[in-house]
Amino acid sequence: MDLSVKIGNKTLSNPVGVASGTFGYGSEYEKLVDLSELGALYTKTVTHKYRSGNSCPRIVETPSGLLNSIGLANVGVKKFIAEKLPLLERYECAVIANIAGSTEDEYIAVLEQLEKCELPWGYEINISCPNVSHGGLAFGTDPLIVESLTSRLRLKTKKPLLVKLTPNVTDISVIAKAAENGGADAVSCINTLIGMAIDTKAKRPVLGNITGGLSGPAIRPVGIAVVYKIKRTVSIPVIGLGGIMCADDAVQYLLAGASAIQIGTGTFVDPEIPGKVLSGIREYCEQEGIKKINGFHKYIE
Ligand SMILES: Cc1cc2nc3c(=O)[nH]c(=O)nc-3n(C[C@H](O)[C@H](O)[C@H](O)COP(=O)(O)O)c2cc1C
Repeated sequence: MDLSVKIGNKTLSNPVGVASGTFGYGSEYEKLVDLSELGALYTKTVTHKYRSGNSCPRIVETPSGLLNSIGLANVGVKKFIAEKLPLLERYECAVIANIAGSTEDEYIAVLEQLEKCELPWGYEINISCPNVSHGGLAFGTDPLIVESLTSRLRLKTKKPLLVKLTPNVTDISVIAKAAENGGADAVSCINTLIGMAIDTKAKRPVLGNITGGLSGPAIRPVGIAVVYKIKRTVSIPVIGLGGIMCADDAVQYLLAGASAIQIGTGTFVDPEIPGKVLSGIREYCEQEGIKKINGFHKYIE
């Protein structure tokens, strides 16, 4: 059975990845999970400079989901290259560096520094964080900016370039098309949906940042619908995520049109979910007589 997935000029060994921001820099999980079995490991968003992130509390559980307002806390690209990336060299999985900036130039500067390293395998451009005041969603909601930023980054790298989209827009397929026009090799969708929870006793928002990003099973139907729509708009691969907890959830994304998937909030419940999802996809393919993961979307017109 061929579970490989082609993205740009490279191939992932299998379609199962772990989502940025939910798996640290990867090495935190090495005692719990065989990282080499992952198709891809998307590292925590890295920016030019260290960021401490938003004020606490930054996470609250909601019905079938999680609201977070981490605010892209990260070590900064220099420390990421010196201390975090080398820890992943011995693993076979594709390490995809997720990057962000508060200006287009900052995105370019981060990518240029990473280009000097053999790892990463490719880049995921985060233009969809709902929890930061500069950059974040501002980049991901304007198709002109998305195309301009993507084409500038495209000129700087031959490695796979993925653009991660926000569902917090009127028509996400317009944004996906802009990323494709700019030269993206794939789009990842979705990032979190803006949400809010209020402590009724304190009469205050629960999160320090007031609002946060909703993830987990609550957003799965949104993610699947988005993948379905985007797949019918662009010809580059679509990587689906949002609320995947088991193999059946992943297969739904694949049938909707995803070439690969990512698991985020699910690993907080059980770090072994990615391995279980991969086995379950394999089993599904065997049962259904499917020989190639490529082309699942043809089943649903
Ligand atoms: C605690 C937390 C932190 C996150 N941090 C990032 C991040 O740094 N960069 C990013 O692109 N997405 C980030 N995300 C979004 C996830 O990668 C993913 O798009 C989203 O959670 C939906 O998938 P899920 O429902 O499987 O978690 C974060 C999500 C959570 C829950």
